[in-house]
Amino acid sequence: MKIVELSQDVLGQKLGKNLYNANGNLLLRKGVEINPHYLDHFKKKGYKSIYLLNNDQEVTQTSSHLLSERLLCTSPFVLKRIFRNLMADNKKKASDAKYELIALTESIILNVSGQNQKVPKVLDLKTQEDYLYQHSINVAAYSVLIGEKLKYPRTKLFNLVLASLLHDFGMLFIDNEIVNKASRLEEIELEKVREHTTKGFRHLIGPCSFDGLSSVASVQHHERFDGSGYPRKIGGDDIHEYSRIITLIDFYDAWTSDRPHRRLHSIDQTLDFIESDESKTFDPKIVDAFLDIF
Ligand SMILES: [Fe+2]
Repeated sequence: MKIVELSQDVLGQKLGKNLYNANGNLLLRKGVEINPHYLDHFKKKGYKSIYLLNNDQEVTQTSSHLLSERLLCTSPFVLKRIFRNLMADNKKKASDAKYELIALTESIILNVSGQNQKVPKVLDLKTQEDYLYQHSINVAAYSVLIGEKLKYPRTKLFNLVLASLLHDFGMLFIDNEIVNKASRLEEIELEKVREHTTKGFRHLIGPCSFDGLSSVASVQHHERFDGSGYPRKIGGDDIHEYSRIITLIDFYDAWTSDRPHRRLHSIDQTLDFIESDESKTFDPKIVDAFLDIF
């Protein structure tokens, strides 16, 4: 399987991964020949890259992600509904959202937990439209593995995964125009983006009445181990361990994803960067646990 930039060149080639819709139904089967109609569909969905089979590769139906294919394609849409309900100024909706969030957290843990094999080095392609939700699900799935590496008991693991799902909630407060801007952000726009940490935290802890453990990562996941992050420039152990874990996975998943202003980086390139971590951005203990899952 190979990953290529989405362009006319993929016409006539074979799709490298199954493609599902939001309900978990199979839209296109791995191995199908890509025609102009399909290409158009990928572009409309906001994909920038696509998986293709290598010329002589056989079609085998194995999952190449931590999560089962079904959970991988349905859970971003569940999370989208949860976020929408948390944003609505409505107590009943917020309470429904919390129940659904608990169920989603449990199912991610159940799906990922106890997999003692190494994580496959396969990129997970995301659409621009649903990046926030696909990214948050990925961060949650990887956090199960790191929590297990750190021998977290069940309750702690649950809190970590729930905090992972909520870490970027505050992005809903940022203008779509800025989030989807295809060129480099100006300083004033960066300032706006940085506000997703404090705005998300305030909404979670205030109107939604989440506790500190569930929402700590939403405000701390851009703090850096060396104290160079934001919003408070705290460092080391002053950053909660959940946040130190989520910071690292957040970086990994964002770096290996296509973003409006840049193409994705390879997994090996990203892991090398994390391993060298010359800027001391991450907690070395978390780096060790993370590298150990691959
Ligand atoms: Fe963030």
